[in-house]
Amino acid sequence: MSLAPGADGVLVDRYGRVARDLRVSLTDKCNLRCTYCMPAEGLPWLAGPELLTDEEIVRLVRVAVERLGVTEVRFTGGEPLIRPGLVDIVTAVAALDPRPRVSLTTNGIGLDRLAPALRTAGLDRVNVSLDTLDPGRFTTLTRRPRLDAVLAGLAGAAAAGLSPVKINSVLMRGVNQDEAPALLRFALDHDYQLRIIEQMPLDAQHGWARETMVTAEEILASLRTAFDLSPDPAERGAAPAETWLVDGGPARVGVIASVTRPFCGDCDRTRLTADGQVRACLFATEESDLRAALRAGADDDELARRWRTAMWGKRAGHGIDDPTFLQPTRPMSAIGG
Ligand code: GTP
Ligand code: 5AD
Ligand code: SF4
Repeated sequence: MSLAPGADGVLVDRYGRVARDLRVSLTDKCNLRCTYCMPAEGLPWLAGPELLTDEEIVRLVRVAVERLGVTEVRFTGGEPLIRPGLVDIVTAVAALDPRPRVSLTTNGIGLDRLAPALRTAGLDRVNVSLDTLDPGRFTTLTRRPRLDAVLAGLAGAAAAGLSPVKINSVLMRGVNQDEAPALLRFALDHDYQLRIIEQMPLDAQHGWARETMVTAEEILASLRTAFDLSPDPAERGAAPAETWLVDGGPARVGVIASVTRPFCGDCDRTRLTADGQVRACLFATEESDLRAALRAGADDDELARRWRTAMWGKRAGHGIDDPTFLQPTRPMSAIGG
């Protein structure tokens, strides 16, 4: 292994991992207020001039794709569908050469209306967050009565050919912990791919506690009360989700066990925040300011060099179990998951 990041080439770190999957947060704002993510009153949002412009985002993604070996681009938020330039950004990114795969992680609100245009723009697929199918619980959990809008968004995505449509569900004790089988039944009925997620310590309110977190083991036990789960023979690669065949397949269910079964050793991710900071990890406590470099006139070579340097410093793992673990100051909603 070399002792420093290369002057050219891919985003490699000192543990030999190569980041080919770029997650770009397009806004820190959101139209929901999920209790595990944001306080009811919202958060101090990034100011307009702090946000990368659409052109700046496309330029940085182009550098990542053309010079740094990125092959997957995922747009996140906050809620990416509320960024006015989203369709134009997707169009420009899908036109890059080599063409990256392009996906979106969204809460689904407004997706029924936007899905056809996003598909035409070149979006390949979507992941939609949905933690409960009960309207009352949905309103308690997200602090907005929008379950029907999310269900319409899911249907619209499937109708537009954005497939596979995946559903992300975070389970919380005493809130929706009992819903795993119902969520899976719903996903199977609609041909959506369900993934159930262990809650991570990323909430702005710092309310997460290891002792109350619903674990992958509990999630699997709950699913097994209603379904037969067998190991998925498909290669997992760097995917956060570990998958199981449901009732012999071909349907699958995923569990994202970031806390109890970390997958950091296989991580292939790099992140760009809406204000132009590179994060080597979801849990990074340091960021690298590409916006300042870009606005000071850096050329593509210089931007690529800074990005490589930022990734070289990526830590081996998130360290949630270390006594010295510190939650990142930037909340989940401004990182994009
Ligand atoms: P697919 O490529 O469709 O499998 O998406 P994904 O699961 O990688 O991404 P998505 O945006 O749907 O996120 C699902 C969950 O995985 C969220 O809770 C994310 O916060 C979490 N997640 C995504 N990337 C990482 C990561 O690098 N590390 C950890 N620990 N969790 C991640
Ligand atoms: N832990 C795990 N997943 C989370 N998400 C939001 N906050 C957390 C958390 N603390 C999920 C959302 C969405 C994805 C981007 O991350 O539900 O599906
Ligand atoms: Fe919005 Fe996603 Fe946070 Fe919920 S979890 S408030 S949908 S950014």
